[in-house]
Amino acid sequence: MQDIKAEVSSPEIVCAETPGSPCAMILFGASGDLAARKLIPSLAQLFARNLLSDHFCLIGCGRSAMSDEAFRQKVLDALQAATEGVSSELATRFAKRFYYVSGDYSHPEFYQAIQDKCLELDAVHGFERNIVFYLSVPPTLYTVIVDKIRQAGLSTVQGPCPWHAHLVIEKPFGHDLESARALNQTISQCFKESETYRIDHYLGKETVQNILMFRFANAIFEPLWNRNHIECVQLTIAESLGVEHRGGYYDQSGALRDMFQNHMLQMLSLVAMEAPLSFAADRVRDEKLKLVRSIRPLIDTCFVRGQYGPGTLDEDACIGYREETGVDPASCTETYVAARIFVDNWRWKGVPFYLRTGKRLAAKKTEIVVTFKHVPHSMFAFSGLTNIPTNTLVMHIQPEEGISLNFQAKRPGSKLCMGTLNMSFSYQDIFGVDLPESYQRLLLDVMTGDQTLFMRFDTLEATWKLLDHVLKKWQGNDSGLATYDAGCHSFPEADELVNRMGHAWRPLGP
Ligand code: BG6
Repeated sequence: MQDIKAEVSSPEIVCAETPGSPCAMILFGASGDLAARKLIPSLAQLFARNLLSDHFCLIGCGRSAMSDEAFRQKVLDALQAATEGVSSELATRFAKRFYYVSGDYSHPEFYQAIQDKCLELDAVHGFERNIVFYLSVPPTLYTVIVDKIRQAGLSTVQGPCPWHAHLVIEKPFGHDLESARALNQTISQCFKESETYRIDHYLGKETVQNILMFRFANAIFEPLWNRNHIECVQLTIAESLGVEHRGGYYDQSGALRDMFQNHMLQMLSLVAMEAPLSFAADRVRDEKLKLVRSIRPLIDTCFVRGQYGPGTLDEDACIGYREETGVDPASCTETYVAARIFVDNWRWKGVPFYLRTGKRLAAKKTEIVVTFKHVPHSMFAFSGLTNIPTNTLVMHIQPEEGISLNFQAKRPGSKLCMGTLNMSFSYQDIFGVDLPESYQRLLLDVMTGDQTLFMRFDTLEATWKLLDHVLKKWQGNDSGLATYDAGCHSFPEADELVNRMGHAWRPLGP
């Protein structure tokens, strides 16, 4: 296959970015991993881009006792370790906006101390009593913290309150349909839907956001984007990493909860939904909800699940999942899941959507592959060119980011010499910048009050409803759980799911 590179004729497209409003971010779990690896470096980048309000400050909250100074040092350490660096002068100015309050999450005095700190800092930073609670803590603490925020009168739902408060909450949002509803019930007694930001970090990735631009800012693709022209769609999120240090959490979760219920179904809804009336949060989210509700009910025969055994990756030996720290040696938790899904609506009836995600696979790769139908008739058949390859459009989400389209063309030479060409564009080549970490986008959107890229509860509830039956069936039951070798590209059961329909997975490797 030969490559043709694309060029952008006007890379300088209007990029109006609204800076965040004045606010104090109250970060629960401030000394945790997510804060150090993602949140603090992303806030620093926003600061460097002049997108943080001059009236922004952050109050770290956690169990470990720490002075403001010690917390600031942690902030500086996190910035030093971050992949996207900022100058030390800027890091020092940035860290001055960080404060710390320690306490026990279940004690009312902790919330009183937070409130006192907010009052004190509002006088210094003038954040106009806007506060954003960010829950970067284990999910078992969500209900405890939200309840205490309500009891401390720090949110507006129960009536007049001196604060304008918002809540940012990380996934997983619930463990199944029932627990998601219970958690939402607790939250709704404290925050309105318009004040609640449920994070799915995939929605903050530039290339995931680009799905909407690609589909709805171009006239040429949408007429083809339906069952008349599309043979099948594949969504892959493959990871080469195993469960790392998260065995304890992961063993209670599995790939269906950890990746499929959220990232994969969110990407599917962007690929398959109807055009929203506008790019307004609720217009986009209405269409996503309609799409999720159009998915044909999922039963366990729609899925293949697997668990990695020992194997080799990049010539290194890897242990199997059951040997990982924190994992039950007899665990039946899936580390791989693939599904064949149908969307029962006018546009997609009969088109299979294949979704797969797994850990410890041969490569890290996230992509969406749209395969178009074969030409209806080959006029070249008499010369043996009967099986002309189909056109495929690939949206590369990571590690390389871009879009490519395969098509057939005449090769120079004999009269019937045909070849597949690959027309591609890469974000890195065209825009020449590293794409911002998805948390930059999401944190800024929280501070500007834009909920477009956050999950609304009705959609989230619809995704849990879709999976509830399967989750119950798989609980504590390993029937049908395949074992695959760590480092493999695929395995027979996963292949069979697509081969049965006359299709094949796109290889993970080059
Ligand atoms: C998280 C999952 O939501 O996404 C992890 O909990 C997974 O298990 C991660 O590794 C993958 O995210 P990314 O951005 O590296 O593809």
